[in-house]
Amino acid sequence: MKYKIRNFEHNLIDISIPEEILHLSESRNLVFDLGCGEGEFILDLAKKDSSSHFIGIEIKYGRVLKCLKSLEKLNLKNINFILGDATLIISQFIREGSAKRFYINNPDPWPKDKHEKNRIINFGFLDHIFNLLSRKGDLVIKSDDLKYIDHIRTEISKSKFKTTFDYNEKLPPTKFQTSYAKKRVPIHTIYSRKN
Ligand SMILES: C[S@@+](CC[C@H](N)C(=O)[O-])C[C@H]1O[C@@H](n2cnc3c(N)ncnc32)[C@H](O)[C@@H]1O
Repeated sequence: MKYKIRNFEHNLIDISIPEEILHLSESRNLVFDLGCGEGEFILDLAKKDSSSHFIGIEIKYGRVLKCLKSLEKLNLKNINFILGDATLIISQFIREGSAKRFYINNPDPWPKDKHEKNRIINFGFLDHIFNLLSRKGDLVIKSDDLKYIDHIRTEISKSKFKTTFDYNEKLPPTKFQTSYAKKRVPIHTIYSRKN
């Protein structure tokens, strides 16, 4: 690959370095985008809100590289990216109560029964998210996949989240949503708030 990730390490949080984890856990007002893809959504949010600190987590190397290259052009100081598994990172590296919002836009639905175990949203995952949120913090999940949305609603109903509602806040489109919009596929949004 032409551009190596180390060229952008100033905007990359390396979870193998203890000081970086410490820095992350001391931060307040964190906003996460889990499975952020190429980062257009969270970069747009970071441009508009300098009072929050944004963190995009993505498991695919090439996509994180694209996030970092886009960030380089924008010169924003309130955003970082992490290359890694969001389920591992939220269960081990983030301080409880430090997040004000989590976004999960179009998580991979894994429609086949035999692949269901690969879905990131389940009871244990929601439990971690709940603990990391500050009071009144929320989780926003978007998906076009009705079967997956039903599954997510069931998992949320078993979780500690007691306030869940559908609400159409104006948010920047993600790359996947832009492609669905062209095909006129409706997107469903679930908000869950920590009271
Ligand atoms: C369908 S894409 C959606 C990308 C983007 N959020 C959007 O809406 O355009 C799902 C993304 O989640 C990432 N992903 C899947 N499992 C992940 C995990 N465990 N940790 C971090 N990212 C993950 C995939 O690599 C992919 O980029």
